[in-house]
This record gives sequence, structure tokens and C-alpha cells, in this order.
Amino acid sequence: DSDADLRSSLSLRELDIPNRIAVSPMCQYSCETDGLPTEWHRVHLGSRAVGGAGIVMTEATAVEPRGRITPHDLGIWTDEHAAELEPITEFIREQGSVPAIQLAHAGQKASKAKPWEGNLPLQPGDGGWEVLSPSPDAYPSFPGDRPAMRKATVEDIQDVIDAYRDAAERALDAGFEIAEVHAAHGYLLHEFLSPVTNHREDDYGGSFENRTRFVREVAAAVREVWPDDKPVFVRISGTDWLDDRESWDAEQSARLAAALAEIGIDLLDVSSGGLHPDERIDGGPNFQVPLAERVDDGAELAVGTVGGITEPEQADALVRNGRADLVLVGREFLRDPYFGLRAADELDEEGESAWPIQYRRAVQ
Ligand code: FNR
Repeated sequence: DSDADLRSSLSLRELDIPNRIAVSPMCQYSCETDGLPTEWHRVHLGSRAVGGAGIVMTEATAVEPRGRITPHDLGIWTDEHAAELEPITEFIREQGSVPAIQLAHAGQKASKAKPWEGNLPLQPGDGGWEVLSPSPDAYPSFPGDRPAMRKATVEDIQDVIDAYRDAAERALDAGFEIAEVHAAHGYLLHEFLSPVTNHREDDYGGSFENRTRFVREVAAAVREVWPDDKPVFVRISGTDWLDDRESWDAEQSARLAAALAEIGIDLLDVSSGGLHPDERIDGGPNFQVPLAERVDDGAELAVGTVGGITEPEQADALVRNGRADLVLVGREFLRDPYFGLRAADELDEEGESAWPIQYRRAVQ
């Protein structure tokens, strides 16, 4: 909408998000081995809610144990996970922010060591497990060992759809108000979208219709159990950055956006890449904004942009100029948990402080 700026509220269905700044999902690899949140998650997510983000989104949260990138990822495959996440969502809401969860399945990029422990595949029997792949023959040559893989059967696909549906129900019990389906960065759903990693010849491979079937079915399953008054987001990679071969690109992303809008998805969160080591990314400030604008052309849903956004003025201009409805901020929120408050201070002409009352003597 044309009058909006970074500080405007965003209404999606019946949910009012207080501003256009979201904490982008970021893995913390800080669980023990059970996917349950720890004090780290509580403080990490809680700080950014105190810090003025309109939305605080969890890291990629696995819908089943096999879908974790590492044994230390957050998960939501039992009711105990939901119960332990609830105090976190409650605290986020108390700060006036909206708790969101990214529901994820890592597909063939699962079963790895933590990044700071080398990120190499963990084999079954050595702390790892057999990972799900659309087409093991198409597995790209990442440095290091090949993981133990299994080609997803149609039954496996159905199990994952069911796991997403159950995870969404638990997320709701835990108090989340937005569910985001992770279909980006080379994880399971993206692996099905891209012809680079999907060589299947069944109903889930080949044509655009078939490659997008899995993500559409997952999105529909989540939408079905998520209340009508609350929004569902989907994160995609807007392109594989592999223009030298048949791959996933901006044109297909725009077509997918239209299909997801029809299912009732409220916002498309447009990232990119992560599928293949040959990708050639032109990074830098706002580098993924053109991909968001491309899907925004004609799509009946809101669009979020992410990547290389570090300055309040920069983020504000994106919303003011109608280039995105929501700005997701990743690494700048790691450097500055109070990025949202900094933005409010820098952009607020009236000078009314948005800082929590407990901190005001320091900032007034
Ligand atoms: C990420 N990113 C990411 N993306 C995602 O969809 N799910 C995730 O769990 C993670 N995990 C993650 C961990 C860490 C430590 C970083 C730095 C990044 C990507 C992230 O959400 C974001 O899209 C990128 O970092 C680009 O945005 P910035 O950092 O340039 O604002």
C-alpha cells in the first residue's frame, strides 16, 4: 500500500503487525539433541522482541526429526515441544511483537554437523540419519562426504505433508500467530521445485505443475489447520542463480506466487539460492529486492524482502517505495538486537521514544 512506511502497521487477515520489520529466521544450533528450546532461544528471541521487531520469527523448526539440518536444530514434532515454546511466544507477545515460526524440513541437506563443527554430513550410526531426497542421482556435489540418502516415495511425501499439518497445529497451541513454510535455500521443498535437484518422473517431478505439487500440498495442509484470522507465509528462493542450466528462476517464482495466493497464502517471503554450489550470487545491499518485486507483479499476496538490509533509512525506503510490504532482517539483528528501536528512533520525526520503559533513562 502506497502510504505505508517502515513504522506502519501491517494487517494480514485479522492480525495487526505493529511495524514492517521482522527478524528473519536464523538457525541457532543451540538445542541439545531433542529439538527442545533452551534458555538460549528464550533470551535470543526475547531480546529481539524487546528490540522492537514487529515480528520475531524462530529459526527453521523441524516438523520431524529427520528434517533437521543438525541434531541441534529446534523442532516441533511433539506436544512437549509446543509446551516448551509457549513461554517464549508469550514473552514475545507481551513486548508487543508477533511470534512467528518457520516450519522446515531440510531434505537432503539434513543430518549435518553444526557450521562451527565443520558442517559435513553425519552418517547413520555416527550421530546422523538417512536423509530424504527427491532424486538421489541429482544430488549436487557439495564438498565433503555424500550423506546416506533415500529417494522419497509418494508415501514419504504424504508423511511430510502430515508432519507439516501436525506441526502447524502444535505451533498454534504454542501461541504462534504466523506460520511460515520454508520452501527456500535448497531444503526439501525447494529440492522438489528445482529441476536441478528434481529428476523424478512421477506426479512430483517434470512439469512446473508437478514440481510445485509438494509445496502447494504442504501450504494447503498448513492453511487448512491455521485459523482463518491468522496469516500463513511461505519462504521461497526466487532463483537458484544457475542461469547456465535449466533451474528454478524468477519467472517460475511469479507463477508459484499466484498459485500460493489462490491457496490462501498471505505473504511470500522471497530469498534466493542455497541449492547448488555452482550458484553465482550478486550480493550486496537489497540484492534480493528485484526478486520480490518480480513476484509482486500481479500476485494477490503481500511480499517480504530480505538480504543485505542493515539501515533503517534503507528499510524504510523499501516500504515507502512500494518495493515490499515487509522487511526481514537477519544478520543486522544479530549485531544489534535493538535494530527495531534504532529504526523507530531514527525515523520518528516526533521524537516519541519506542524504547521499553525499563531502558528509557538510558536513551532519553
Ligand atoms: C540464516 N538464514 C536462514 N534462513 C531461513 O530461511 N531459515 C533459517 O533457519 C536460516 N538460518 C540462518 C542462520 C544464520 C546464522 C544466518 C546468518 C542466516 C538466512 C536469513 O534468514 C537471511 O535470509 C539471510 O541472512 C539474508 O539476510 P541478512 O542477513 O542479509 O539480513
